[in-house]
Formats: sequence, structure tokens, C-alpha cells
Amino acid sequence: MPEEKLERISEAEIAVHWHEEEHYPPPAGFIGQANLTDAGIYRRFSPENFPDCFKEYADLLDWDRYWEQTLDTSNPPFWNWFVGGRLNACHNCLDRHLPRHNNKTALHFVPEPEGERIQHITYRELFVRVNEFAALLRDFAGLKRGDRVTLHMPMVAELPVTMLACARLGVIHSQVFSGFSGKSVADRVVDSESRVLITMDAYHRSGKLLDHKEKADLAVAEAQKQGQQIDKVLIWQRYAERYSSETPLQPGRDFRVNELLPKYRGRRVEPESMAAEEPLFLMYTSGTTGKPKGCQHSTGGYLAYVTGTAKYIQDLQPEDVYWCMADIGWITGHSYIVYGPLALAASAVVYEGLPTYPDAGRPWRIAAELDVNIFHTSPTAIRALRRAGPDEPAKYDYHFKHMTTVGEPIEPEVWKWYYRVVGKQEAVVVDTWWQTETGGVLSSTLPALGAMKPGSTGPAVPGVYPVIYDDAGDEIPAGSGKAGNICIRNPIPGNFQTIWKDPERYVAQYYTRYCRDRNSKDWRDWPYLTGDGAVLAEDGYYRILGRIDDVINVAGHRLGTKEIESAALTVNEVAEAAVVPVADEIKGKIPDLYVTLKPGFEKSLDLVKRIEAAVVAEIGPIARPKTVQIVPDLPKTRSGKIMRRVLAALSSDQDVGDVSTLANPEIVEAIRRMRGA
Ligand code: WT7
Repeated sequence: MPEEKLERISEAEIAVHWHEEEHYPPPAGFIGQANLTDAGIYRRFSPENFPDCFKEYADLLDWDRYWEQTLDTSNPPFWNWFVGGRLNACHNCLDRHLPRHNNKTALHFVPEPEGERIQHITYRELFVRVNEFAALLRDFAGLKRGDRVTLHMPMVAELPVTMLACARLGVIHSQVFSGFSGKSVADRVVDSESRVLITMDAYHRSGKLLDHKEKADLAVAEAQKQGQQIDKVLIWQRYAERYSSETPLQPGRDFRVNELLPKYRGRRVEPESMAAEEPLFLMYTSGTTGKPKGCQHSTGGYLAYVTGTAKYIQDLQPEDVYWCMADIGWITGHSYIVYGPLALAASAVVYEGLPTYPDAGRPWRIAAELDVNIFHTSPTAIRALRRAGPDEPAKYDYHFKHMTTVGEPIEPEVWKWYYRVVGKQEAVVVDTWWQTETGGVLSSTLPALGAMKPGSTGPAVPGVYPVIYDDAGDEIPAGSGKAGNICIRNPIPGNFQTIWKDPERYVAQYYTRYCRDRNSKDWRDWPYLTGDGAVLAEDGYYRILGRIDDVINVAGHRLGTKEIESAALTVNEVAEAAVVPVADEIKGKIPDLYVTLKPGFEKSLDLVKRIEAAVVAEIGPIARPKTVQIVPDLPKTRSGKIMRRVLAALSSDQDVGDVSTLANPEIVEAIRRMRGA
């Protein structure tokens, strides 16, 4: 095989080949009550009705000023939705619900320790808390419309309070997953030029009260090194009345929110009237190069899209209790715990801890206690619960009408356990495919209308027109059995607007690959490259195979291989590093790390430990490699590129294929022998 071709062989092509699965019809009980039972929606959202079809989603919102133009395509591929419209996301999630849902629970906060009381926060109470905190952000922290602020908060009710307070002021929030390291926070602080960091003193995870504030100190110091000054660190207290961290407060910089809040008691802050295209938040995600990308999401298009999809795909209704077990630090939590559900006045559960803590019955006890009837999680969590307690769900008296899986392909066996055992064959299951960039779902069955098919996500959702291209740019038709690069033909309102401060990279990475004419102002010439491989079956269902770039999907979340490799290179002895995905029973994929050493250094267990520690310190425990292999050399092409595909095959005990064109083919066997030893 020619070297270039060998290099490009993607993860998609080495993915397991599944056979076709049967269809499962949605349960009649679900159909009887669903928000959407009219198949006419596909016609209403057909290409002939694009883009005006999305008025249906925009009309789920309150607009301060109604928009004039649905879609402005004059500056491709920087699309603008609902042009001329003004609205506030916080108003749409809170104020407008008060007349009818004042005393309804908006958030059920479930602490990890089982003895601790569940907090039921009503729409009124959330409104009060958000207003008071918004007053603090404005008057104490000096934040105003357009400023960016970095959040590094765990899964607690104070996180949606903080996000909504920012949205109320028009301040752009950038929440960083709490499991990420201080260094990761610093990189995002620097890129977004945040001067305020909002965090929490501590939180519970897996039975321990973790000190979280120490990461803020690391983040501030590192950001300073990179030239970005943090003026204020605002620290929520996990227990309002006391400070639960061992890490001292730095006078003049660190402030305890709970100590300041009484000064703002009863304060109200007018929601800023934002233009539809003004940014609501940034969400950093990994891409093919080392630096995480700040995906910039709009106010109007994003909120309309997540509200519409939460209504039709999650089937959220006012009586439901909805639990999405994702972390709000990822896009799933932003769209389908906070913004979508609250815009629909739903009751959402926020759970602090590990799903399997203290045992695999925990989620089912929470579901039974709170009468959760809509459940949303990832294949990783499903696999973990299945392994730890395959028979637990039957022991608890809960009943789901609807369940979601999201984040990575789900193995049909795991899907069937989810459907049969977790869902007790009463619930409809949707497998929703989308990305940080797209803000909301791209492909899923409509729950009352489409049959389920294990391992496939279904057709595209209304208003999304995908296409699968081969490398030459030709369309791969349905039923061909061939995989290709799945793209979206049309702009959608939920899609991000640009990469923060890097519009060239936005265009280069997502729109140049299949662009037909760089000068065209017609959106039809600008397909959006998702970066995933996919196959389209005869029945019109997509099966997503995974990323085709250098990104590893760990537990449903993308980690850049470059980021992990750079972390390994912070260890002085390391000369080169290559990271590859390896299958993991629970997490789907985890990184496996290969390194070579600089001359004069010897491999040792201590060195292996230090390299592993460096990865955890730089990125976080989620990136911890399965193994660290110190090898004499890495397989390389003649042009010197590291052949990760060959390493990936070695890590997974698969056939490496033809390696004769490598510069150093003998190293492949040497590494295989080392791994076997
Ligand atoms: C990547 C996006 C979706 C929000 C959470 C992750 C993979 C996502 C599915 C699914 C197969 C999926 C894709 C995608 N992915 N959902 N239902 N079936 N693969 O957001 O971190 O931006 O990752 O996750 O590869 O591109 P993200």
C-alpha cells in the first residue's frame, strides 16, 4: 500500500464490522403521550422549506424583538440565524416561566453522599438565586456584556445558577469540565482572556470530598505565566456555611461567594437584550492540533435549536422528571440539562457523583425516589452499570418512558441490555449523534415515529440533511455498505459560529475539505465536515463509526492525541510520544501511550509512573493512559511521520497490515514482542 494511503487509514476503517440489526417499534404507551406523532414534520422540515422551517423552533422562545431574516448567508461559512432578533437566554429559561411554573421544581440536586438531603429548587428560587448572583457578578466582579468568564465547577446546582447569571448579563461563560486539571483550565482562561474564574471549594466524587480549589491556584499561576491575569477567583462553597477546602484563600484575589451573597439579597437584574447572533458561551473541544478549540455558540440559533430538539427528541413535557447523567462541563449538559430543558420549563436532575457510587443500584434508587421518567446517559455509563450490576434495575420500582444514549457508538449487546433491563421494555430509546460544534442533535429517530435499531442512530433529525462523501468527494449512496466522511449539507441554527479568535481554523477545519466554490454565497456549496466516519444503510439509518482524525473518544468525549503527547513530552527524558486509542470495556476507547527516550536515559518503572502522572496533571484523570510503553523507536514513514495506525493495531492485538513501506519496519515486530513480554 502506498505510504500516503497507509497514513490516512482511519479509525473508521479498523472499526469492528457489525451485522445488520432488527428494528424495534416504539412502545405504544410512549406513542400515546408523545409531543410529536405527526410524520408531517419531515415534510415541514424538507429542503424546499429550508431555512424557514426553523421558525417552528424559534417560536418556542420569547423574543424581545422578533427577527426579520431566518438565515443570512452573505458571508459563508459564517451563517447568521434569526437576524434582527433580540432575546435573553436566562429570561427564556426562568422569567417567562414564573407566571405558570413558579412553584414547580426546576432542578433536583442530588448530592453524592446518600445521607445528604436532595435539594428541590423551584423556578422561583432559581430565579432569585440567579438574580442575586448576577448582581454580584456585575457589581462586585465588574463583569459586563461580551466579557468572557471561565467556570471550573462540579455537578452542583450552583453551576446552572452561574451559567444563567452570566447569560442574564450577556457575559460569555466558558465552563471547563471539573475533572480537567488546573493546566487545562489555564489554557482556556488564556485563550478566552478571562479575568474572572468561578469555581467551588470542594465536591464529592467516588466517596471522597475532593479539594477543588487547589486547581484554581494552579490555573491562575499557569495563566499568569502565559500572560493572562486573573483578577478575581470567585469560590462557591459546597456547604454554604463553611469552607471545605484545605487550600488557603489568597487575600485580594480569592472571594467566597457565599460570604458575599447576603449583600445582594433580593436584588434583581434586568436581562440584557442580546442580538440573536451574540455569543452565549464558549465550549472548548479537542481537535487535530494540540490547542483546544473554543466553539462559540450563539444566543438565538443555539437556544432555538436545543429547545426544539429537547421537545421533539427528548419528548420533554411539563409533568416529566428528566435526568441526564452527563456532566454540565460537556456540551450535552449545556444543551440537554441546562438550556433545552429549562427553556421548556422541565424538571431536571443534577447528580453530583459517580453513577456507580456507592453501588450499581444508585441510579435506579435516584430514579425511583424522584419518579424520573426520562433518562439520558452515555454508552460508557451504561457499560459500567451493566458490568457492576446487570440485574440491579429490576430491583427498583421506577419506570422510564424515554431513554437516550449519546457520545459514542453503542454496541448492540449493550443497547439491548439498556432497552430490556434498564428500560424494562417500556421505554423508547433514542441514540443521538451530534457534537460540541453542532450544539444539538444531528441524527436520531424521532421517538414516537421511528423504529429503533441497536447500534444505529437513525435518520437525520428534521431540518438536517447529511451526505456521506468518499475521499474523492463523490457521494456514497445508501445501502452500499461503504463508509465515508459524513458531512452536513446545510447550516443548522444550533451549529457553532466560529472558533473563538480563530476564524481561519474554523473555515479550514470544517468547510474547505468539500467546499465546491470558495467564492460562492450559496450554502449548498459549503458542506460541513463532521470529522466522523459513517455508513448509511438501505433503510436510511446512519451508523456512526467514530472519528476519522487524530482524536480519541474516551468515555464519549474527545481528547486530542496531540494534547496527550505534549503532556508526555513535559517529562524531561521523553524524546517522542505517540498516543493511540485502544478499546476499553467501560470507556469505549482509552489512550495507549508509546514513548521514546532521549539518548542516555534508561527505561524504569519510576519513569513510567512519572509520564503517567504528567498526563494526569496536564489534562486530567480522564486522559490517563492504559499503558506507557517505552520503546526504542516508533514506526515511521519515510517522510518521518509517526504511524499511529500501526501502533493502534499493536495495542489492540490486531493485524498491522503491510508495513513494508515504513522507514523502520523491523520496529513493529520488536514492539509487538515487548508488549507480549
Ligand atoms: C463525537 C462528538 C454529542 C455530545 C457529546 C460528545 C461521537 C457522539 C454519538 C452517537 C456514535 C457518537 C462522534 C462525534 N458521537 N454521539 N450517538 N453515536 N458516535 O461531544 O465531545 O464533541 O464528541 O462523539 O464521533 O463526532 P463531543
